[in-house]
Amino acid sequence: MTDHVLVTVEDGVQIVTLNRPDKKNALTAEMYGIMADAIEKADADPAIRVTYFTGSGGSFTAGNDLGDFAKAGTAPADEQPKEKPHVTRFLENLAEARKPIVAAVNGLAVGVGVTMLLHCDLVYAGESATFQMPFVNLGLVPEAGSTFLLQRQIGIQKAADLFLTGKKIGAAKAEALGLVADVFPDNELPVEALACAKALAAKAPNAVRATKALLKDNDRPRVGEARETEGRIFAAQLRSDEVKEAISAFFEKRQPDFSKFG
Ligand code: COA
Repeated sequence: MTDHVLVTVEDGVQIVTLNRPDKKNALTAEMYGIMADAIEKADADPAIRVTYFTGSGGSFTAGNDLGDFAKAGTAPADEQPKEKPHVTRFLENLAEARKPIVAAVNGLAVGVGVTMLLHCDLVYAGESATFQMPFVNLGLVPEAGSTFLLQRQIGIQKAADLFLTGKKIGAAKAEALGLVADVFPDNELPVEALACAKALAAKAPNAVRATKALLKDNDRPRVGEARETEGRIFAAQLRSDEVKEAISAFFEKRQPDFSKFG
């Protein structure tokens, strides 16, 4: 059992802390497994009213572990996993969760570290938090139903601006775009965001769950369709030479060269 994700419960709030600070909390399969289990547990356990995601060491998460992406891209194509991959389980559980999910973004959020926020019911950020979805820069496409959810939330131009450029934005811009409910001074975020989660956990649970359902249920089928389509294209791109070049460039600390691809 890894300590790369810590799970505790306080006053009805399940606190899930991404805890791999030397790698900026980059997510491995094992970490997705614990995150997926936490959401399942919350929905099954009456003592848990809210799940709360945050990161340790001054980062939320640098997204999927790029070493894992490289390995997945070179695994034999006909090798079907016997069980559903943890990342798939996590993304499904996140999209289908019945109880509220709160996120406290305490530093950089990259890739799935941002797309997961689109499923969270309340997102709070520290004032120096940053948000970036560099899927295209890595030769990949967005995932987690984000091509549907992001344009739904911020409009297609703003969504394309974030997805196609892979630019990094700060907390103030994220709040202005509507990706974040509130921004706190960095040192106050852990206390303030957790207090909001605990206040939510103390509210009438049926009313909270019904309100979440009213906000989310209409879109669930379309989110699921987007997630599946993105997943197919993502898996194909993962095997591409574009991704090999992008990931080699990251670990070799150089700029990728996509000029040879047509
Ligand atoms: N996967 C694997 N390792 C990662 C990682 C990731 N997604 N993100 C960071 N790391 C590792 C780095 O390789 C480095 O490891 P090392 O100390 O063994 O060399 C360590 O975490 C610290 O990262 P570093 O790049 O030195 O920190 P930084 O503050 O200069 O930059 C980031 C932080 C997140 C901007 C940068 O690491 C980055 O761009 N990471 C890749 C993010 C990404 O593309 N994620 C996938 C999105 S789909």
